[in-house]
Amino acid sequence: MKLLVTGGAGFIGSAVVRQAVGQGHEVINLDALTYAACLENVAPVADSPLYAFEKVDIRDAAAVEACFAKHEPHAVLHLAAESHVDRSIDGPGVFIETNVMGTYNLLQSARALWERKGKSGDFRFHHVSTDEVFGSLPADPSVKFTEDTPYDPRSPYSASKASSDHLVRAWHETYGLPVLLTNCSNNYGPYHFPEKLIPVIILNALAGKALPIYGDGSNVRDWLYVEDHADALLTVLAKGQVGRSYNIGGENERSNLELVQTLCAILDDLRPRGDGKAYADQITFVTDRPGHDARYAIDPSRIRTELAWRPSVTVEQGLKKTVQWYLDNEGWWRALQDRDGVGQRLGTG
Ligand SMILES: NC(=O)c1ccc[n+]([C@@H]2O[C@H](COP(=O)([O-])OP(=O)(O)OC[C@H]3O[C@@H](n4cnc5c(N)ncnc54)[C@H](O)[C@@H]3O)[C@@H](O)[C@H]2O)c1
Repeated sequence: MKLLVTGGAGFIGSAVVRQAVGQGHEVINLDALTYAACLENVAPVADSPLYAFEKVDIRDAAAVEACFAKHEPHAVLHLAAESHVDRSIDGPGVFIETNVMGTYNLLQSARALWERKGKSGDFRFHHVSTDEVFGSLPADPSVKFTEDTPYDPRSPYSASKASSDHLVRAWHETYGLPVLLTNCSNNYGPYHFPEKLIPVIILNALAGKALPIYGDGSNVRDWLYVEDHADALLTVLAKGQVGRSYNIGGENERSNLELVQTLCAILDDLRPRGDGKAYADQITFVTDRPGHDARYAIDPSRIRTELAWRPSVTVEQGLKKTVQWYLDNEGWWRALQDRDGVGQRLGTG
């Protein structure tokens, strides 16, 4: 199948590109190469005859249209987005432009192509979204996000993603475009951009710096290894029911404090501090993020029962693989640490 993957130079998109090429799909990686992109993430497949790259900004409708006309993909996996909540607090405009208007541009070009091709039933527009559109959960562990949970986004990032989800559903209901939607929990793993919590903790720990935890560290997130998310996305693309949405999660709820303590223990084991002390001594509590959602937790029953998808690793296994990857790939993350805003506290309101 010929797949157009948007955002394929980012964290999750590059995992999708690597897996899709590995499975024998032809992949066009459409990416504007913003501050969050790194083409090295797709280096393992960049020389494959199955792989092509197009530097296109999804805010540019004409450029998007030209890319669709040139490649005529059989399916679109749409991951391109502004993705960092803290940045959305400081500068929400680009989140609306890329996540809302960019998705609109893609939907219009996808619809035009699908109509030119006689409204093929095989075409798919798969929109990749987040569990953050559902808002914040109470502490009660029996309450989780299902596909029927009402939308209640609370940050500029999640509101822009919720808007794009609504557009995708509307293009299905109104025009019949064959869409799929997925809402996934927090990802972690190799190639995670060094402004997000897990790489920040690993890299600050190694540098002997403070390990910043927002608020009291009680906020709970449901963690999924990025390769498992990519696998779930390709599973939904292949087997998902048109017009349906699927929640993706690993059922790995951890408070931020628990998560950071686990990372510290892994580092103590893999790269002990020179002074014999524990990395957890570097933990520091900092001012909370405004509107910080208390808890996210995914009920993945639908994707498990209908599509037989399961994550391949536990969070402990995945975190260990991730820490080892950062230890082995210093050149990758050092090159990104000079980028605008990386290493600074953003989004304090
Ligand atoms: N990271 C998570 O934990 C998580 C969880 C669930 C869903 N998601 C969703 O998955 C998708 C990918 O997330 P990520 O963490 O890999 O993000 P990322 O920030 O690492 O990568 C985003 C990619 O999109 C590209 N991009 C941004 N603006 C663009 C534009 N205007 N035109 C073309 N390309 C543009 C960037 O260059 C980058 O390569 C996003 O849609 C995000 O909302 C992320």
